[in-house]
Amino acid sequence: MATDEPGADWRTELDQVQARWQAAVAAGADVAALRTLEVDALGKKGEITALVRRTGALPPDDRRAFGAAVGALRGVVEGWLAERADDLQAAVLQAELDDSTFDVGRPAAAGRVGHVHPLSQVQAEVEDVFRSMGFHVLDYPEVDSDFSNFESLNIPSWHPAREMQDTFWLDDGNLLRTHTSAGQVRAMHAFEAPFRAVFPGKVFRYEATDASHEHTFHQIEGLMIDRVVSVGHLLDSMRTLLRAILRDAAVEVRLRPGYFPFVEPGFELDIRCRVCGGGGCSVCKQRGWLELLPCGLVHPNVLRAGGLDPDHWQGWAFGLGLSRLVMMRFGVPDVRLLLAGDVRFLAQF
Ligand code: PHE
Repeated sequence: MATDEPGADWRTELDQVQARWQAAVAAGADVAALRTLEVDALGKKGEITALVRRTGALPPDDRRAFGAAVGALRGVVEGWLAERADDLQAAVLQAELDDSTFDVGRPAAAGRVGHVHPLSQVQAEVEDVFRSMGFHVLDYPEVDSDFSNFESLNIPSWHPAREMQDTFWLDDGNLLRTHTSAGQVRAMHAFEAPFRAVFPGKVFRYEATDASHEHTFHQIEGLMIDRVVSVGHLLDSMRTLLRAILRDAAVEVRLRPGYFPFVEPGFELDIRCRVCGGGGCSVCKQRGWLELLPCGLVHPNVLRAGGLDPDHWQGWAFGLGLSRLVMMRFGVPDVRLLLAGDVRFLAQF
């Protein structure tokens, strides 16, 4: 088109380009088509991008006007693309709503539902068994004093038994309890004798971890205080517990002497290996028996620390390794799995 006006040629060209893209966008049938149009017009090798690149080659008088016109063209085409995309989306939604088979009352897909951790499951079962035998279920602090954890349990500061339980000490002289026995004297002060209680919870030991050791694990302490208490009471309570938890009326147990400063006499209670039935295997290290829970009759010094006169009161206590019991119940080979938080493990229970 010949005219005297400078730049008239490129103006006409831009008008034509614009008209072409307007038609193309209006004909864009779906989101994918629009995306292709966008690349062809505005992408790195797009037609409008190529126009922008041409600006520098124009005579200086034209440059500013051309640049502004191409910029405007770019904006207009972008606007059409966005508008067309909105229209298409609205049309898709409308089509869904118009579809008579679309059921707005249909329940949404169910979300994933979690469940109770295996440690908590077994802990709740143990609590139920003891509640049925008249025990309170108590909860004591994880951060406790030297007195509760050691001193009151007949373990003075010089006593080598402190070495049996490597301890996380806090700067203020308190500690992370190394065993639930830390609750024994608390319970004696909290309840009037006679009483029975179990207190489950996390305990902590500063030691190297392996398949059967973890710095954090779970125990359940049991304590029964009465006028006359015997090892027979203790044994029968343990049998009742293990039969219920291991779902086996024939669980066989035995007592071996065991040393703990806060019981006298003290025992290790073993159960007959459930894998080999007592013949010996790798699980029980060929012994036929598995060490499960330490226990004993409460030492007179502990009763005294709890404000009870050992001439009038007696007691038995046990410290059940809950983590261990869970491993036996479900056949878990490594204690570290219990607290690792891996859903692939947890989802199996
Ligand atoms: N508290 C002891 C431990 O963790 C176990 C225990 C509890 C022993 C009660 C005897 C009586 O090793």
